[in-house]
Formats: sequence, C-alpha cells, structure tokens
Amino acid sequence: MSDARKPIVIIGSVTMDLVTRTPRIPAIGETLIGSGFTATPGGKGANQAVAAARLGYPVAMVARVGTDAYGPALVENLQRAGVDTASMRPAEGSSGLAPMFVAETGENSIVVVPGANGKMDRAAVDANAALIRSAGMVLCQLEIPMDTLAYALDFCAGAGVPVMLDPAPAAALPDSALARVAWFTPNETEAAFYVNGASSVEVSANRLFTRGIRNVVLKRGAEGAYVALASGEAGWVKPFKVQAIDTVAAGDCFNGAFAVGLLEGRDPFAAARFANAAAAICVTRHGAQASMPMRADVDKLLEQGSLN
Ligand code: RIB
Repeated sequence: MSDARKPIVIIGSVTMDLVTRTPRIPAIGETLIGSGFTATPGGKGANQAVAAARLGYPVAMVARVGTDAYGPALVENLQRAGVDTASMRPAEGSSGLAPMFVAETGENSIVVVPGANGKMDRAAVDANAALIRSAGMVLCQLEIPMDTLAYALDFCAGAGVPVMLDPAPAAALPDSALARVAWFTPNETEAAFYVNGASSVEVSANRLFTRGIRNVVLKRGAEGAYVALASGEAGWVKPFKVQAIDTVAAGDCFNGAFAVGLLEGRDPFAAARFANAAAAICVTRHGAQASMPMRADVDKLLEQGSLN
C-alpha cells in the first residue's frame, strides 16, 4: 500500500451467502414458497472490509477461502471493492457458506458453515505480522476459531494496535480476551448474551466494563447506537430513518464505517453518526457486500438527514 494512512486490517471470515427470499421466516416444520435465490459474497469479516474500502479507506484482509469455485469469486469481489487480498490464502476444501432466509420485512435468519474460515490458524497471524503491526486498527469477529482470535488479540496487544471486536455470532469469551479489546460492538441479542439477559443499555455497558472492555458500542438497529466510553462519557447516537428491505450485514457496515470514522479523526459519537448513516443506506439494498455504500452516498445522507 502506498497510502500514508495506517490501514484497517481485518482478521476474519469470508463467506458465500446462499440467500433465499421468503415472505417470512418459516416456522419449524413449515414449508413456504420463496420468491428468489442468490449466491452472493458475505462473511462478517469480508463485509466489514468492503464497508471500509467503499468509504475510500485502505483495508487489507487476512483470511482463508476454499479451493472450491466460490473461493476465487470471493477474492475477486473483495479486490473489486479495493480490498488488499495479498494476505489471503486458499485452504483445501469448501469456502465458508451461509445459507439464510431474508423475509419481506428485511429480517433474516442465518446459519454459518465455517469451511475455510475454520482453518484460519495462528500461522495466518504470524505470516502477516508486519501488516498487522502497521495497522491503524484491527477488526475481528467470531467466525474464525477462538484459538486464532485469542492469539490475534494477544499479538495486537503486544504490538499496541487497537482492536474492534464484533462479538458475532455470540460465543463465550474469556475476560482475558475481552481485556484486549478497545471497541466492543454487540447488537441487542449479542449484548444480552454477554451480560446474561436483557437489560438497559446503561446496565449492559457497565456490566461489560466490569469484564475489562474499554469502550462499548451497543448497536440497536432502527433505534441507533449507544456509545459508552472508558472515560465515563456515554450517550445515544440517533439513527437515520429509512425503509429497510434487507438488514443482512447492517452491523458489519456499521463496524467498517465506525473504524473509518475513528481513524479519520472523528470523536466516537461523530464516528457512530457516520456509521449510522452508512448502515441506514445498507438496509435499503439487498445483499451483504453488495449493499455497502460509497462515500458520496454517506456524505449526502449526513448532509441532507434523509435519503429523499
Ligand atoms: O453479518 C452478516 C453476515 O453473517 C452474512 O454475510 C453471513 O455471511 C454471516 O456471516
């Protein structure tokens, strides 16, 4: 990268989303007639990479794809968005796959089959040590093995590189790992998992602080985001009102944009407003990576306050 800015480095997943559009999420034992099917690039790590890259920020991806037909297609899609894929390696076998239902309301239900993402190992971190050390921020999620994640968190702590962890899909994390996290960004379901039940945003954030996390962003979709900082400052950042048609990857869009916002020097509340704008546009479009907005679209929404 010839850019003077410190890149965002994503250590995470790349997945082919197998999307069935349906009038509503089927109940157990129920058969519905769907309205469409697509295979389209996703994966929480790759989605966050594309979100940041489309906003014009330098991004590199450390990840694995399979040796199946999806592997090259997933890499190419990242490259088209401007993501540096030089650190990605193929792993023998299937790429990560995510069969999902997307309902007419925009809601979804997803199963992730790790494939190559499950083969992300410590060697992937070691092989990219120089790149990771050069990062302005590292973004991680929970779609790679926990051992690799813990190793990456230790590495980043040693290198003094801040980490934003999207705890999705929610899974048990030791406090030793949480103490390595500069930014923790659960959605409502994930926050309830980590604080052991539904709670107010204030209580959730405080309980997360007691586990060693420094800064918390509670992503609340149409309600906006609640930002709580280690300094004690906290507050809601309002959403932009839009008509959602597909909420897949809206949280990923938020994270990629939030990282860009912070690295461009915005304070965390302004960065969350920037990220809310990006995520608002994302939910008005179909697909995961396909729905990530360009910088000009986000700037326009920030300026106008609405999409109309
Ligand atoms: O966050 C959305 C993503 O979760 C989808 O793209 C799917 O791949 C799953 O990983």
